[in-house]
Amino acid sequence: MLKLLWSYLKFWWRSKNQHGVHSPFVFKLVTDCFYDKSNYNDYSKLRQYRKELLSNKDSIEVTDLGVGSHMMKTKKRVIAHMAKNAGSTLSRTKLLYRFVQYFKMESILELGTSLGIATHAMGLAQPEASITSLEGCPNITIFASDNLKANGIQNATVINTEFSQGLNKLSQETFDLMYIDGNHQKEATLEYFETLLEKTHNDSIMIFDDIYWSKGMTEAWNTIVAHPQVTVSIDTFFWGIVFFRREQVKEHFIIRL
Ligand SMILES: C[S@@+](CC[C@H](N)C(=O)[O-])C[C@H]1O[C@@H](n2cnc3c(N)ncnc32)[C@H](O)[C@@H]1O
Repeated sequence: MLKLLWSYLKFWWRSKNQHGVHSPFVFKLVTDCFYDKSNYNDYSKLRQYRKELLSNKDSIEVTDLGVGSHMMKTKKRVIAHMAKNAGSTLSRTKLLYRFVQYFKMESILELGTSLGIATHAMGLAQPEASITSLEGCPNITIFASDNLKANGIQNATVINTEFSQGLNKLSQETFDLMYIDGNHQKEATLEYFETLLEKTHNDSIMIFDDIYWSKGMTEAWNTIVAHPQVTVSIDTFFWGIVFFRREQVKEHFIIRL
Protein backbone atom coordinates (compact mmCIF):
# COMPACT_ATOMS: atom_id res chain seq x y z
CA MET A 1 0.00 0.00 0.00
CA LEU A 2 2.83 2.38 0.94
CA LYS A 3 4.58 1.48 -2.29
CA LEU A 4 1.46 2.32 -4.28
CA LEU A 5 1.18 5.65 -2.49
CA TRP A 6 4.82 6.39 -3.28
CA SER A 7 4.26 5.47 -6.94
CA TYR A 8 1.26 7.78 -7.00
CA LEU A 9 3.23 10.69 -5.52
CA LYS A 10 5.93 10.22 -8.15
CA PHE A 11 3.28 10.00 -10.85
CA TRP A 12 1.56 13.17 -9.60
CA TRP A 13 4.84 15.07 -9.55
CA ARG A 14 5.64 14.15 -13.17
CA SER A 15 2.09 14.33 -14.55
CA LYS A 16 0.56 17.11 -16.62
CA ASN A 17 -2.87 18.26 -17.66
CA GLN A 18 -3.73 19.31 -21.22
CA HIS A 19 -1.62 22.49 -20.96
CA GLY A 20 1.63 20.58 -21.02
CA VAL A 21 0.70 18.54 -24.09
CA HIS A 22 1.97 19.64 -27.50
CA SER A 23 0.72 16.73 -29.60
CA PRO A 24 -2.62 17.84 -31.19
CA PHE A 25 -3.81 14.21 -31.15
CA VAL A 26 -3.21 13.79 -27.42
CA PHE A 27 -4.33 17.35 -26.56
CA LYS A 28 -7.70 16.70 -28.20
CA LEU A 29 -8.05 13.33 -26.49
CA VAL A 30 -7.32 14.87 -23.08
CA THR A 31 -9.65 17.87 -23.48
CA ASP A 32 -12.52 16.28 -25.43
CA CYS A 33 -12.54 12.85 -23.78
CA PHE A 34 -10.57 12.58 -20.53
CA TYR A 35 -11.78 15.94 -19.18
CA ASP A 36 -15.23 15.87 -20.78
CA LYS A 37 -17.58 16.80 -17.91
CA SER A 38 -20.85 16.21 -19.82
CA ASN A 39 -23.45 14.26 -17.93
CA TYR A 40 -24.32 11.59 -20.52
CA ASN A 41 -27.79 10.05 -20.21
CA ASP A 42 -26.22 6.58 -20.22
CA TYR A 43 -24.35 7.36 -16.99
CA SER A 44 -27.57 6.57 -15.09
CA LYS A 45 -27.50 3.09 -16.68
CA LEU A 46 -23.86 2.63 -15.62
CA ARG A 47 -24.81 3.59 -12.05
CA GLN A 48 -27.83 1.27 -12.12
CA TYR A 49 -25.80 -1.72 -13.37
CA ARG A 50 -23.31 -1.25 -10.51
CA LYS A 51 -26.05 -0.61 -7.94
CA GLU A 52 -27.80 -3.88 -8.79
CA LEU A 53 -24.54 -5.82 -8.46
CA LEU A 54 -23.62 -4.09 -5.20
CA SER A 55 -26.94 -5.10 -3.67
CA ASN A 56 -26.84 -8.69 -4.98
CA LYS A 57 -26.25 -10.96 -1.97
CA ASP A 58 -26.24 -14.19 -4.03
CA SER A 59 -23.02 -16.12 -4.12
CA ILE A 60 -21.38 -18.11 -6.90
CA GLU A 61 -18.58 -20.66 -7.03
CA VAL A 62 -15.65 -18.79 -8.46
CA THR A 63 -12.71 -20.47 -10.19
CA ASP A 64 -9.72 -18.32 -9.44
CA LEU A 65 -7.09 -18.55 -12.15
CA GLY A 66 -4.13 -18.10 -9.85
CA VAL A 67 -0.40 -17.63 -10.44
CA GLY A 68 0.42 -18.41 -14.03
CA SER A 69 -3.11 -19.78 -14.39
CA HIS A 70 -1.88 -23.22 -13.34
CA MET A 71 -3.26 -23.25 -9.82
CA MET A 72 -7.02 -23.10 -9.76
CA LYS A 73 -8.77 -22.52 -6.47
CA THR A 74 -12.55 -22.61 -6.30
CA LYS A 75 -14.46 -20.71 -3.66
CA LYS A 76 -17.80 -19.11 -3.03
CA ARG A 77 -18.00 -15.37 -3.47
CA VAL A 78 -20.85 -12.96 -2.90
CA ILE A 79 -21.66 -10.96 -6.07
CA ALA A 80 -21.80 -7.69 -4.11
CA HIS A 81 -18.26 -8.26 -2.74
CA MET A 82 -16.95 -9.09 -6.20
CA ALA A 83 -18.49 -5.92 -7.63
CA LYS A 84 -16.86 -3.89 -4.88
CA ASN A 85 -13.42 -5.48 -5.13
CA ALA A 86 -12.83 -6.64 -8.72
CA GLY A 87 -15.10 -4.46 -10.80
CA SER A 88 -14.19 -1.14 -12.40
CA THR A 89 -15.00 1.97 -10.37
CA LEU A 90 -17.76 4.28 -11.59
CA SER A 91 -15.34 6.99 -12.70
CA ARG A 92 -13.25 4.49 -14.68
CA THR A 93 -16.41 3.04 -16.19
CA LYS A 94 -17.54 6.50 -17.29
CA LEU A 95 -14.10 7.18 -18.76
CA LEU A 96 -14.17 3.89 -20.66
CA TYR A 97 -17.64 4.80 -21.98
CA ARG A 98 -16.34 8.17 -23.25
CA PHE A 99 -13.16 6.60 -24.64
CA VAL A 100 -15.05 4.00 -26.72
CA GLN A 101 -17.43 6.69 -27.98
CA TYR A 102 -14.67 9.20 -28.71
CA PHE A 103 -12.78 6.76 -30.93
CA LYS A 104 -16.00 5.23 -32.37
CA MET A 105 -14.64 1.76 -31.70
CA GLU A 106 -16.16 -0.94 -33.87
CA SER A 107 -14.35 -4.04 -32.63
CA ILE A 108 -13.35 -4.53 -29.04
CA LEU A 109 -11.58 -7.30 -27.16
CA GLU A 110 -11.63 -7.40 -23.37
CA LEU A 111 -9.47 -9.71 -21.28
CA GLY A 112 -11.27 -10.19 -17.95
CA THR A 113 -15.06 -9.79 -17.99
CA SER A 114 -15.74 -10.39 -14.30
CA LEU A 115 -19.31 -9.15 -13.71
CA GLY A 116 -19.36 -7.22 -16.96
CA ILE A 117 -19.17 -3.69 -15.53
CA ALA A 118 -16.72 -2.50 -18.19
CA THR A 119 -18.31 -4.65 -20.92
CA HIS A 120 -21.66 -3.01 -20.16
CA ALA A 121 -20.15 0.48 -20.46
CA MET A 122 -18.47 -0.32 -23.76
CA GLY A 123 -21.62 -1.96 -25.11
CA LEU A 124 -23.69 1.11 -24.24
CA ALA A 125 -21.12 3.51 -25.66
CA GLN A 126 -21.12 1.89 -29.11
CA PRO A 127 -24.17 -0.33 -29.66
CA GLU A 128 -22.93 -1.04 -33.20
CA ALA A 129 -19.56 -2.33 -31.98
CA SER A 130 -18.80 -6.00 -31.69
CA ILE A 131 -17.35 -6.85 -28.28
CA THR A 132 -15.57 -10.09 -27.39
CA SER A 133 -14.80 -10.55 -23.73
CA LEU A 134 -12.74 -13.44 -22.33
CA GLU A 135 -13.30 -14.79 -18.83
CA GLY A 136 -11.68 -17.84 -17.24
CA CYS A 137 -14.24 -18.65 -14.57
CA PRO A 138 -17.19 -20.65 -15.99
CA ASN A 139 -19.76 -19.42 -13.44
CA ILE A 140 -18.74 -15.78 -13.78
CA THR A 141 -19.00 -16.16 -17.57
CA ILE A 142 -22.58 -17.42 -17.31
CA PHE A 143 -23.52 -14.74 -14.78
CA ALA A 144 -22.00 -11.87 -16.78
CA SER A 145 -23.39 -13.07 -20.08
CA ASP A 146 -26.95 -13.35 -18.68
CA ASN A 147 -26.68 -10.08 -16.77
CA LEU A 148 -25.46 -8.15 -19.80
CA LYS A 149 -28.35 -9.48 -21.89
CA ALA A 150 -30.84 -8.69 -19.11
CA ASN A 151 -29.50 -5.13 -19.17
CA GLY A 152 -30.02 -4.75 -22.91
CA ILE A 153 -26.44 -5.35 -24.08
CA GLN A 154 -26.77 -7.39 -27.26
CA ASN A 155 -23.39 -6.67 -28.85
CA ALA A 156 -21.12 -8.48 -26.38
CA THR A 157 -20.06 -12.12 -26.46
CA VAL A 158 -18.49 -13.48 -23.29
CA ILE A 159 -16.27 -16.50 -23.91
CA ASN A 160 -15.22 -18.85 -21.14
CA THR A 161 -11.52 -19.45 -21.65
CA GLU A 162 -8.14 -19.02 -20.09
CA PHE A 163 -6.66 -15.91 -21.76
CA SER A 164 -3.66 -17.48 -23.54
CA GLN A 165 -5.75 -20.31 -24.95
CA GLY A 166 -8.56 -17.96 -25.96
CA LEU A 167 -6.20 -15.53 -27.67
CA ASN A 168 -4.77 -18.27 -29.83
CA LYS A 169 -8.24 -19.23 -31.01
CA LEU A 170 -9.52 -15.76 -31.95
CA SER A 171 -10.46 -15.76 -35.61
CA GLN A 172 -10.89 -11.99 -35.88
CA GLU A 173 -7.89 -10.43 -37.62
CA THR A 174 -7.74 -7.05 -35.87
CA PHE A 175 -9.39 -5.11 -33.04
CA ASP A 176 -9.82 -1.36 -32.62
CA LEU A 177 -9.57 -1.60 -28.85
CA MET A 178 -7.93 -4.25 -26.65
CA TYR A 179 -8.65 -3.79 -22.96
CA ILE A 180 -6.45 -5.98 -20.75
CA ASP A 181 -7.94 -6.19 -17.28
CA GLY A 182 -7.05 -9.54 -15.74
CA ASN A 183 -4.08 -11.64 -14.62
CA HIS A 184 -2.01 -8.62 -13.62
CA GLN A 185 1.40 -10.28 -13.76
CA LYS A 186 4.51 -9.19 -15.64
CA GLU A 187 5.15 -12.27 -17.79
CA ALA A 188 1.49 -12.86 -18.60
CA THR A 189 0.91 -9.20 -19.49
CA LEU A 190 3.91 -9.18 -21.83
CA GLU A 191 2.75 -12.42 -23.41
CA TYR A 192 -0.73 -10.95 -24.06
CA PHE A 193 0.85 -7.80 -25.49
CA GLU A 194 3.06 -9.77 -27.90
CA THR A 195 0.17 -11.98 -29.01
CA LEU A 196 -2.17 -9.01 -29.44
CA LEU A 197 0.37 -7.08 -31.51
CA GLU A 198 -0.64 -9.41 -34.33
CA LYS A 199 -4.22 -8.15 -33.97
CA THR A 200 -3.40 -4.47 -34.37
CA HIS A 201 -3.91 -2.05 -37.24
CA ASN A 202 -2.56 1.48 -37.45
CA ASP A 203 -5.34 2.94 -35.24
CA SER A 204 -5.65 0.12 -32.73
CA ILE A 205 -5.40 1.00 -29.07
CA MET A 206 -4.47 -1.16 -26.09
CA ILE A 207 -5.38 -0.28 -22.51
CA PHE A 208 -3.58 -2.02 -19.64
CA ASP A 209 -5.30 -1.79 -16.29
CA ASP A 210 -3.48 -1.38 -12.97
CA ILE A 211 0.00 -0.66 -14.29
CA TYR A 212 1.22 0.29 -10.80
CA TRP A 213 -0.45 -2.65 -9.06
CA SER A 214 2.92 -4.37 -8.56
CA LYS A 215 6.60 -3.93 -9.43
CA GLY A 216 6.17 -6.59 -12.13
CA MET A 217 3.21 -4.76 -13.72
CA THR A 218 5.17 -1.51 -13.82
CA GLU A 219 8.12 -3.34 -15.40
CA ALA A 220 5.76 -4.87 -17.98
CA TRP A 221 4.32 -1.40 -18.70
CA ASN A 222 7.80 0.10 -19.18
CA THR A 223 8.71 -2.71 -21.60
CA ILE A 224 5.50 -2.12 -23.57
CA VAL A 225 6.14 1.65 -23.75
CA ALA A 226 9.65 1.01 -25.10
CA HIS A 227 8.45 -1.42 -27.79
CA PRO A 228 9.32 -0.11 -31.29
CA GLN A 229 5.78 -0.60 -32.59
CA VAL A 230 4.34 1.60 -29.84
CA THR A 231 4.35 5.28 -30.80
CA VAL A 232 2.18 7.24 -28.38
CA SER A 233 1.88 5.97 -24.81
CA ILE A 234 -0.14 7.57 -22.04
CA ASP A 235 0.26 6.84 -18.34
CA THR A 236 -2.87 7.85 -16.39
CA PHE A 237 -1.69 5.96 -13.29
CA PHE A 238 -4.45 3.35 -13.24
CA TRP A 239 -4.47 2.82 -17.02
CA GLY A 240 -1.57 2.60 -19.42
CA ILE A 241 -2.76 3.35 -22.95
CA VAL A 242 -0.74 2.62 -26.10
CA PHE A 243 -1.19 3.63 -29.73
CA PHE A 244 0.51 2.34 -32.86
CA ARG A 245 -0.09 5.31 -35.20
CA ARG A 246 2.83 5.29 -37.59
CA GLU A 247 2.29 8.97 -38.49
CA GLN A 248 3.08 9.94 -34.88
CA VAL A 249 6.59 10.32 -33.46
CA LYS A 250 7.30 8.17 -30.43
CA GLU A 251 6.32 10.12 -27.32
CA HIS A 252 5.32 9.27 -23.77
CA PHE A 253 2.75 11.29 -21.81
CA ILE A 254 1.93 11.25 -18.12
CA ILE A 255 -1.55 12.68 -17.73
CA ARG A 256 -3.45 13.25 -14.49
CA LEU A 257 -7.18 12.61 -14.72
C1 LIG B 1 -10.21 -7.36 -12.56
S1 LIG B 1 -11.36 -8.53 -13.11
C2 LIG B 1 -12.04 -7.78 -14.54
C3 LIG B 1 -12.90 -6.59 -14.23
C4 LIG B 1 -13.78 -6.17 -15.37
N1 LIG B 1 -13.02 -5.86 -16.57
C5 LIG B 1 -14.59 -4.97 -14.96
O1 LIG B 1 -14.27 -3.86 -15.38
O2 LIG B 1 -15.53 -5.10 -14.20
C6 LIG B 1 -10.32 -9.78 -13.81
C7 LIG B 1 -11.09 -11.02 -14.33
O3 LIG B 1 -10.16 -11.76 -15.13
C8 LIG B 1 -10.32 -13.14 -14.91
N2 LIG B 1 -9.00 -13.79 -15.12
C9 LIG B 1 -7.84 -13.57 -14.44
N3 LIG B 1 -6.83 -14.27 -14.96
C10 LIG B 1 -7.34 -14.96 -16.01
C11 LIG B 1 -6.78 -15.84 -16.98
N4 LIG B 1 -5.48 -16.16 -16.96
N5 LIG B 1 -7.59 -16.34 -17.93
C12 LIG B 1 -8.91 -16.02 -17.97
N6 LIG B 1 -9.51 -15.19 -17.07
C13 LIG B 1 -8.73 -14.66 -16.11
C14 LIG B 1 -10.79 -13.28 -13.47
O4 LIG B 1 -11.57 -14.44 -13.31
C15 LIG B 1 -11.57 -11.97 -13.27
O5 LIG B 1 -12.95 -12.18 -13.43
